[in-house]
Amino acid sequence: MRFTVAIDGPAAAGKGTISKQVASHFGFAHLDTGLIYRATGARVLAGENAVPAAQGLRAEDLQRDDLRTPDVAQAASKVATIPEVRNALVQFQKDFAARDGGAVLDGRDIGTVICPDADVKLFVTASDAVRVERRFLELSEKGIDVTREAVQADLKARDTRDSERQTAPLKPAADAILIDTSDMGIEEAVAVAINVVQSKWRN
Ligand code: DC
Repeated sequence: MRFTVAIDGPAAAGKGTISKQVASHFGFAHLDTGLIYRATGARVLAGENAVPAAQGLRAEDLQRDDLRTPDVAQAASKVATIPEVRNALVQFQKDFAARDGGAVLDGRDIGTVICPDADVKLFVTASDAVRVERRFLELSEKGIDVTREAVQADLKARDTRDSERQTAPLKPAADAILIDTSDMGIEEAVAVAINVVQSKWRN
C-alpha cells in the first residue's frame, strides 16, 4: 500500500508537529526533509563543500543533536539554493515517499517537486508574529540563547531565500490545501490535518 502525504510551508508554521502526529495517527513513516538540508549545512559549517557533503550524506548525519540551531538553519537554507545539492537529495526522498505502508514528508518542495502526485498536499502557514514567538519559545526551551529579534531576522532571511530561489522554491502546489495555524492551538491544527487526510484515505 502506497499513500503519500506532502506537507509544505515556511519555518515554524507548525508543519513538523502536524507531520509527526499525522504519521503516528495513520501509522505512516515520517521524513522531515529539512533535516537532510540541515545535515548538509552542518557538514558545510564543518568545512566541507556543499555538493560532496550532500552526495556523501549518511543516515547518522541526521542523528546529530546540533541540527536545530539557528546557524545550521541558515546554512541549510543556503545549501538548499544549489541545484546540485537538491539533485543529490531527490532520490532518497522519492524512495521514502514510495515506501510500502504510507509516508508523510514535510519540507518546502514536497507537493511541487518531490511528490507532485501525492495523495494529500497540505500547505501550513502562520503569521510572521506567531511563527517568531513559537520558534523563540522552542529554542529558549532547549536552552539555546536567542532573542526574538534574532529569531525574526533568521526566519525573514530564510523565508526570502527559500521562496525566491530558482530551483524548487517554497510555494503551495496548485492543489494543496492551505492550513493557517495562526489562531489555532497545536491540537486543533493537528485535528484539521488529520481530518483532511482521513477524507482522502481509503476512499
Ligand atoms: O524545515 P527546516 O526549517 O528544518 O528546513 C531548513 C532549511 O532547509 C530551510 O530553510 C530550507 C531548506 N529546505 C528545503 O529547501 N527544502 C525542503 N524540502 C526542506 C528544507
